[in-house]
Amino acid sequence: MRNINENTITPAVLASLAGCPDPRLLEVLSALVRHMHDFAREVRLTEAEWMAGIEFLTATGQKCDGKRQEFILLSDTLGLSTLNVALNHAKGSQATEATVFGPFHVPGAPEFELGDDISGGAAGEPLFVQATVRGPKGEPIANAKVDVWQADAEGFYDVQRAELSAAQGRGVLRTDASGRLWFRGVMPVAYPIPTDGPVGRMLNATARHPWRPAHVHFMIVAPGYETLITHVFSDGDRYLDSDAVFGVRSSLIGDFVRHPPGKAPDGSEQSTHFHVLDFDFVLELVVQTSRQGDARII
Ligand code: BEZ
Ligand code: FE
Repeated sequence: MRNINENTITPAVLASLAGCPDPRLLEVLSALVRHMHDFAREVRLTEAEWMAGIEFLTATGQKCDGKRQEFILLSDTLGLSTLNVALNHAKGSQATEATVFGPFHVPGAPEFELGDDISGGAAGEPLFVQATVRGPKGEPIANAKVDVWQADAEGFYDVQRAELSAAQGRGVLRTDASGRLWFRGVMPVAYPIPTDGPVGRMLNATARHPWRPAHVHFMIVAPGYETLITHVFSDGDRYLDSDAVFGVRSSLIGDFVRHPPGKAPDGSEQSTHFHVLDFDFVLELVVQTSRQGDARII
């Protein structure tokens, strides 16, 4: 393994992996090496560009902490997250489509009762969400765990506000015996993804805008069903066709109907305009793939 040149380097690295005991690791790493080497050959990568790439990835890692995930943001803005969702959640069934997870989910969000206000005092016009969670045959899914998170009327998630010591605009609820879910939040607005890090520099350098259309995030978990990670987007938003992270799907656009002050769906009197969103989620049954590659429902 001497005198390696630009063509012999790839088989040399692949040969060094030959003893890898994990077949999937071998497959993934070998493909990564092949594609990475082909990429460097294709663009004739200069040493300065190689170093700029190293510095960019270093800065991306340094921007990450418990509340900020710059690598997910990078994956999102380069379309890798949406590609990954597409590869793993093929459209074609009646199930609600999945979309990107994003960097603002926080595990262990506060638990709420149906009908509660999850806004935690966040600014915004009130939003009343009325949803159902069902299986593929229309069967209601009782006691599904529904994790909800959303930005406030200024386009910030609670984790982006250093002054907050408690959660805002996020919570965990459980569907009732009929698979119904209802809660109160605030009307989401379009917002820019964080641009104060390397990803922002990349967007700037490529003349891209950072905006996402208004949406509410949902993660729905129920035994026997595939976990659904998705958003519901607000119809009419100006960024539906240019989402900075490529996450919009037509089937995920909901009507956040704006009402004048008056009686809200929960019977409360609202002194400001308020919004009502009705949306029905459908979960897929868990499919287990056997070692022979055939799939069956478990
Ligand atoms: C979000 O919707 O929270 C999000 C998704 C991807 C990148 C940034 C933000
Ligand atoms: Fe979001």
